Amino acid sequence: MKVTVVGAGNVGATCADVLATREITNEIVLLDIKEGFAEGKALDIWQTAPINLYDSRTVGSTNDYSRTADSDVVVITSGLPRKPGMSRDDLIATNAGIVKTVTENVVKYSPNAIIIVVSNPLDVMTYCAYLNANMPSSRVFGMAGVLDTARYRAFLAEELNVSPKDIQAVLMGGHGDTMVPLPRYTTVGGIPVTELIDEARLNEIIERTKFGGGEIVKLLGTSAWYAPGAAAAQMVEAVIRDQKRIFPVCAWLQGEYGLSDIYLGVPVVLGKNGIEKIIELQLNDAERALLMDSAEAVKGVMDVLDNMIANA
Ligand code: NAI
Ligand code: 2OP
Repeated sequence: MKVTVVGAGNVGATCADVLATREITNEIVLLDIKEGFAEGKALDIWQTAPINLYDSRTVGSTNDYSRTADSDVVVITSGLPRKPGMSRDDLIATNAGIVKTVTENVVKYSPNAIIIVVSNPLDVMTYCAYLNANMPSSRVFGMAGVLDTARYRAFLAEELNVSPKDIQAVLMGGHGDTMVPLPRYTTVGGIPVTELIDEARLNEIIERTKFGGGEIVKLLGTSAWYAPGAAAAQMVEAVIRDQKRIFPVCAWLQGEYGLSDIYLGVPVVLGKNGIEKIIELQLNDAERALLMDSAEAVKGVMDVLDNMIANA
């Protein structure tokens, strides 16, 4: 199987490294617009193979999409990351131009690929890729929920001093401060988290999760990459290995949760056909209200993109 990662920066290179080291696929193409950059990163990753004992091959390309031809999965990470003081939405104008061009090139050489978008603002960049891909929405979706849930699970593991492996959680909504972690759907070794952590403390952990991306931007001066890269690789694995994993994924909604024509994070089944099913949870009134607030925030940024396209 062949996987292309567009953008050889922090997130893209990490994703390629995880794909290679874990032998999720045997052929990885890393592509970037910066001359020699992807080639350099790919060479460095490939030279870890004799040390880490794997044989997946990573190669690099400076903007030559013919090298990506017939990819089974393409991960789009190209675009500017956040700097301190910036929201994800501040990136829209620059990143929409990049995601549009990249998607057109990807589809030209890999018309049957599944596309996983990572660039921010995530929900709207996924919409931008969908508008330019001319593919069913089950094959164009975004990575955010796997990362946001991982942050939530890591914070809970730390709080309870238990293994993060035993924490299962669902988180919905947009990849922004309005995301909706769902304590009612969070368990620790099968035990509802609400039996282990009191409401006030749980709310503090939820708030930290919502601002988890910003916490790292403040510390590093740019956004995170280890967890985002690993999260994207885990989604690639679910597709390549047809695992039917249940993940929160940024998906195109057509009536689910009473929402239409919007990309938003919802639980899905991920397999070889991409999004094979969108799971509709029986949300209570409070949870539904939070999801609607998040949808409204995402819709506002989608409208900005629609207006940019209309006025172009
Ligand atoms: P980075 O700056 O390290 O890497 C971005 C790379 O994209 C650069 O190497 C740049 O040369 C390349 N690039 C720019 N225009 C291109 C084009 N037209 N074609 C090919 N490559 C191009 O940034 P980083 O940290 O890797 O972040 C990448 C994106 O992912 C950002 O938009 C960031 O906000 C987003 N992100 C999203 C997350 C999520 O959960 N969805 C989590 C973390 C980051
Ligand atoms: C993150 O959540 C900024 O989207 C990026 O780390």
